[in-house]
Amino acid sequence: MKQQLEQIALAARAELSKISDQADLEALRIRFLGKKGELTAIMKGMAGLSAEERPVIGQLANRIRAEIEQEITERLAEIKAAASEAKLRAERLDVTLPGTAPKLGKIHPMDKVLHDIEDIFIGMGFDIAEGPEVEYDYYNFEALNLPPDHPARDTQDTFYVTDNVLLRTQTSSVQIHVMENKKPPIRIISPGRVYRSDPLDATHSPIFHQIECLVVDKGITMATLVGTLDMLLKRIYGEECKIRLRPHHFPFTEPSAEVDIVCFNCGGKGCSMCKGEGYVELLGAGMVHPKVLANCGIDPEVYSGFAFGLGLERMTMGKYGINDLRLLYENDLRFLGQF
Ligand code: DAH
Repeated sequence: MKQQLEQIALAARAELSKISDQADLEALRIRFLGKKGELTAIMKGMAGLSAEERPVIGQLANRIRAEIEQEITERLAEIKAAASEAKLRAERLDVTLPGTAPKLGKIHPMDKVLHDIEDIFIGMGFDIAEGPEVEYDYYNFEALNLPPDHPARDTQDTFYVTDNVLLRTQTSSVQIHVMENKKPPIRIISPGRVYRSDPLDATHSPIFHQIECLVVDKGITMATLVGTLDMLLKRIYGEECKIRLRPHHFPFTEPSAEVDIVCFNCGGKGCSMCKGEGYVELLGAGMVHPKVLANCGIDPEVYSGFAFGLGLERMTMGKYGINDLRLLYENDLRFLGQF
């Protein structure tokens, strides 16, 4: 019996050294130490032993049981430690790896130019005025000295909601709202969306953006207008930028001018962008027509004013050398990411 016990001890030890898994370890425990296990079976047979042998074998059996138990406990601790080590290794984070930066949006180039222009004017004490995009004929045309059947309406065909209500073709309509509600001195700019029934191409869009400027006070002259424009365009395009005024006709200004800037592309030599002119047209301007002032209840004998309206798309294209207006609307991130 003693031999049997020692064999069990040897066998248990040999198997234990091969086990690397908790479930196998439990199976081994049941096999050797469980109620129906090998050691228990032998201990049950002890009844047939003599009175001298029984305590000797009993002690040996208990010692072997205790040793196997002890070894199982140790092996269990080792297996658990190895498992947690493996888990830690598998879940290891390399904190020295560079993170994934969140993708930041960018300000649209037209918004950049708009914000710059707004900053320049706010710095000079101007207010920013807003007006409706769905507008009465009166504000878009009639009060601006464009009565029904005026030929200049042809160049600004638009989308009509009714005969009398339309999508505004110009931010000049805001001039009327402002002058109806505020008496001079008036200094405002009004950026916003305008509409015309033009097909979309590299230089035209049925929806585009203008910024209107209106100053009404005593003693405002063409010199105030030119000084303001010169300062604005130098701030946007740089000190070396040069402008010129060409006589023009707008029904709501007298005199009127178109304002050109030396071509961004060729610097005045003449190229395909300026069609050989050396200049590109940037905006319309003039002295507010006395009739327009009178339409808004402002006495043209006392007050005078200047106004201009510039195209935000054109300003932006000039500033960044963009040659196709459609790029500004397509929201292609490869394009927008460059600014
Ligand atoms: N509203 C004109 C246009 O869309 C631009 C313009 C010209 C605005 C002269 C003005 C101005 O305020 O004085 O073509």
